[in-house]
Amino acid sequence: MSSPPDDTRLVLEAPAKINLYLEVAGRRPDGFHELVTVLQTIDLADRVEVSMRPRRASVPPGAPDVAFTLERDAPSGDDPPAGDASPSGDASVVPADADNLVVRAAVAWLTAADLVDRTGVDLVLRKRIPAGAGLGGGSSDAATVLLALDRLRTAAGVDGPGPDLQPLAAALGSDVPFFLVGGTALCTGRGEHVVPIAEPEPFDLLLAFPGFPVPTPAVYGALDAPALPAQHARDLPARISAWADRLAGADVARLDALYRNDLEDPARRVRSELVDLLSAPDIHLSGSGSTLFLYGSQPPSPRSACRHASMRFVRHRSRKR
Ligand code: C5P
Repeated sequence: MSSPPDDTRLVLEAPAKINLYLEVAGRRPDGFHELVTVLQTIDLADRVEVSMRPRRASVPPGAPDVAFTLERDAPSGDDPPAGDASPSGDASVVPADADNLVVRAAVAWLTAADLVDRTGVDLVLRKRIPAGAGLGGGSSDAATVLLALDRLRTAAGVDGPGPDLQPLAAALGSDVPFFLVGGTALCTGRGEHVVPIAEPEPFDLLLAFPGFPVPTPAVYGALDAPALPAQHARDLPARISAWADRLAGADVARLDALYRNDLEDPARRVRSELVDLLSAPDIHLSGSGSTLFLYGSQPPSPRSACRHASMRFVRHRSRKR
């Protein structure tokens, strides 16, 4: 027997992404990098439970009432490890407190909805996506919280539309707006301008987490990109429309041919282990790393560096919008 619908609680999956293509067009005056990147959601996912409830009287006036529990799956034979929570300050640490992007997302939504003084939120996050891995786990978790609160808003007495989620997402991080949409999308700007595009055929891929994280700011810092050329903005509309049909119905051979990632070289400079691991032409890097992927379901050849490093490739699948 199914339980009755509950309009105060939602349990949603927050999928990981890979970058099918990532081109850095140049460095911007604000220090960010202008991108042309194609993102694709995949079936590896965190689980986010979001409950809306009245604000507790014990919370100091003016402070948002967001309670957060971080859960970890016991590592199974098939999953990459979730980030370690030791307080070492490295990129694999998933914050278990108000620094976590899920809490920041809930606070941003409550503030924009003008509900801080009457509504509280409970969040339970079960991590499966490794952190510092270029898979967008934290960004996806944050977007999923925004989507859940939007869907639960009538429980907080919001009639009609709630706050616009796009600017809230963009303020939380460059990849967060993509996860409001998911599937296959072309992302430009610092990543926050999202254009959904025709999806490739559903495809298999093999994913390997090399056991160390790579901090995204360090990779961009090692890039030494030239300043953004003036013609970029002029050329962009034509490039967006070209991408709009390039991927439609593509198979893995086509995806492999379209792959490019300008963050591979700086990631190698940040973690020298990646030089060997990325030496096989069919092994790709997702975003700023450290996750490696291959299209299809054939494991890397026995001669590849990944075999020597006894990397465990786990089979995954693309996930549609
Ligand atoms: O936006 P987000 O918090 O994901 O970015 C993390 C860091 O990555 C930024 O502080 C910046 O150093 C770098 N970054 C960048 N250009 C982008 C996206 C991120 O330089 N388009």
